[in-house]
Amino acid sequence: MSFFNRHGVLERNATLLMVVSLVVVMIGGIIEIAPLFYLKNTIEKVEGMRPYTPLELVGRNIYVREGCYVCHSQMIRPFRDEVERYGHYSLAAESMYDHPFQWGSKRTGPDLARVGGRYSDEWHVEHLKRPRNVVPESIMPTYSFLLQREIKTQDIDKHLAVNRTLGVPYSQEMIDNAAKDLVAQATPDSDDAEALQQRYAKTNVRDFDGNPNMISEMDALVAYLQMLGTLVDFNAYKPKENLR
Ligand code: HEC
Repeated sequence: MSFFNRHGVLERNATLLMVVSLVVVMIGGIIEIAPLFYLKNTIEKVEGMRPYTPLELVGRNIYVREGCYVCHSQMIRPFRDEVERYGHYSLAAESMYDHPFQWGSKRTGPDLARVGGRYSDEWHVEHLKRPRNVVPESIMPTYSFLLQREIKTQDIDKHLAVNRTLGVPYSQEMIDNAAKDLVAQATPDSDDAEALQQRYAKTNVRDFDGNPNMISEMDALVAYLQMLGTLVDFNAYKPKENLR
């Protein structure tokens, strides 16, 4: 009996088959997982990615708090129908500063990975206030209370600092100025707004919710939605030769 004919032994002994299968699966698993521990970076760096501004970060926290990810994905898959509907497929680098990532697993509503700049701020406010005001057949819940809720700025620097411990490259200057930057992004034409735009490239500075008297959770959520997918310039982006 040659070596290759001996599989009969395995096939007749369920316990042995299970043990040997486990060993084979473990070898496969180790080969897949082990390199991730010593590779310095598993994500291809892409020009244009920057950490969230304080206001966008608050908006992101609201997005997570309200469970928007239950109905919305943020991950455009590399299929023709998706790319035609939503734009360039998502790159790993585009969610490298997301802790946790918001890829989602279900689309009751459309993918939001590139919704930034697609609608006006007014549209977003109206839509979040009552989705059926702008999309009559919408089943999305209303979030009008966001307009009344003022953002507390006293602990925003801690949010940035925590993200830094997770690997997001916030500088000490960004952390020290977090509360000021948060207010500045919703206060156009202020001196602080200029400083904010120096720290964070491609930042929208607007009164997002249309109420200049208060920085509301609506300001933050709309600021977040309006930057989604806008950082990477896909006219300049070229995938690596071997990935094409
Ligand atoms: C129960 C599911 C559900 C939840 C929860 C939900 N949405 Fe939606 N959303 C939808 C559906 C369905 C649509 C498509 C109809 C419409 O435009 O209202 C939609 C549309 C949208 C759009 C327009 C997208 C486009 O490209 O036209 C945005 C922006 C959006 N939702 C943001 C949010 C945000 C932010 C939250 C959390 C505060 C949220 N949604 C929570 C179901 C949901």
